[in-house]
Amino acid sequence: MYNMVKILHSYWAYLVLLILVLAVINSIIKLVGKKEYGAKDFRIALFTLIVSHIQLLLGLILYFVSPRFSLFSESGMGEIMKNSVDRLYLVEHPLVNIIAIILITVGYSKHKKKLLSEAKFKTLSIFYTLALILFLSRIPWSTWLA
Ligand code: HEM
Repeated sequence: MYNMVKILHSYWAYLVLLILVLAVINSIIKLVGKKEYGAKDFRIALFTLIVSHIQLLLGLILYFVSPRFSLFSESGMGEIMKNSVDRLYLVEHPLVNIIAIILITVGYSKHKKKLLSEAKFKTLSIFYTLALILFLSRIPWSTWLA
């Protein structure tokens, strides 16, 4: 179970980052170019929301089935916070990614309420870019790309 979920979470991460980078580039280019918001822009924003929520679910399952989770009962929070790798996997990575997914969710629902194309693209550019920066800041690059 753990290995299967970890592989799924690891590969799904590529899709999350790919679609989020596409959404950010699309909204910034169309904001700067003063383009009209259309069905394709809506689909990109919605697909980003769906894909990141699926990754959240996979991450939550992984969090509780990972052997690392037993460190909470074995070593306690103090020891986990002292160890940069355990702190990343058990605290920073989940927390920062959950904040990023909240930003995507808020950004998506706010952009839908906007009437003007410029306001829609501005909202997506701000919230989705912040989420992308947060994702990239707490990816376990050394193990992921190994
Ligand atoms: C949507 C944003 C997320 C992305 C892009 C992401 C990406 C990744 C990547 C690339 C890895 C490394 C996989 C490997 O070593 O091959 C990883 C591991 C992990 N992620 Fe996420 N993750 C996300 C959200 C979450 C969330 C929300 C949680 C928990 C609530 C979570 C929990 C974990 C755990 C526990 C591991 C380590 C598994 C282990 O090695 O034991 N992730 N994640």
